[in-house]
Amino acid sequence: MVADISMSTTEFLIRATRLAKEYVQQRPLSRRKFRVHALDGVTLEIRAGSTFALVGESGSGKSTLGLCLAGLEKPTSGEIWFDQQNLLTLKGPDRARISGQIQLVFQDTGAALNPRFSAEEIVTEPLRIRSRLTRAERQPWAEQLMEQVGLPRGWLNRRPHQFSGGQRQRLAIARALCVQPRLLILDEAFAGLDLSVQAQIMRLLQELQATHALTYLFISHDLSLMARIADEIAILHQGRIVEQGKPSDLFAKSRHPVTRALQEAIPGRRCGLSVGSA
Ligand SMILES: Nc1ncnc2c1ncn2[C@@H]1O[C@H](COP(=O)(O)OP(=O)(O)OP(=O)(O)O)[C@@H](O)[C@H]1O
Ligand SMILES: [Mg+2]
Repeated sequence: MVADISMSTTEFLIRATRLAKEYVQQRPLSRRKFRVHALDGVTLEIRAGSTFALVGESGSGKSTLGLCLAGLEKPTSGEIWFDQQNLLTLKGPDRARISGQIQLVFQDTGAALNPRFSAEEIVTEPLRIRSRLTRAERQPWAEQLMEQVGLPRGWLNRRPHQFSGGQRQRLAIARALCVQPRLLILDEAFAGLDLSVQAQIMRLLQELQATHALTYLFISHDLSLMARIADEIAILHQGRIVEQGKPSDLFAKSRHPVTRALQEAIPGRRCGLSVGSA
């Protein structure tokens, strides 16, 4: 494995360079195929221990970028460096080790959690796949994970439908934490939760970041929410980053019409008042 000497290796946990992803789509009732440039030359760097937010309207390429960074989609071109290693050329055990360090938490936890699994099976599933630990050996992990995300140990036998939406989000976070990741990518992780539950999950994530030295990439269409929690925000539009900066700078100096439109979408422009307050 070869380190990229040209880049600062300690500062950034993950760096994507000129990332492009094309999909071929077909219109309904038509045989004609066309290309969609879901990502069109995205370059970004996320500092270790920081919270980075990717904001954009629907179809701007946010989830595609998250999937590429997590190694679940292969970019058409570009590079991804994680902790000095070129993710796109890694193979075998090296690749498996790194892919465990990047975990995704999806929006729709209802669909993402197997309804037949107990909470215990859900939170330790990555361990079952990656290790040879027996169920009895995984049990203490499950208890500890439940505790870390603020769920009672006594609920380990419950199925997903016996949890509320916010509690299911905690289960999904516990599952992601199971393999001790360094980067968590949270794709619309707060969507569909009411404001008080959003605030609780955000507090939990802040505590986990402090205790586990986690780096976060939040993906959202909600600029207001992201401005309250992110150190840096990138605005994605048609597969390109059109503006990027600290939340306060982005609000004071934003120039791009898409950023302005996202600001206009904030009810009462409450974002400007709450930037920096967690
Ligand atoms: N697997 C796929 N096959 C074909 N096209 C895709 C695929 N995934 C995404 N796309 C296309 O790529 C573009 C970007 O999609 P993506 O899901 O990344 O957007 P998004 O910003 O996450 O949107 P949303 O906010 O609605 O989740 C869209 O035009 C979408 O139709
Ligand atoms: Mg998406």
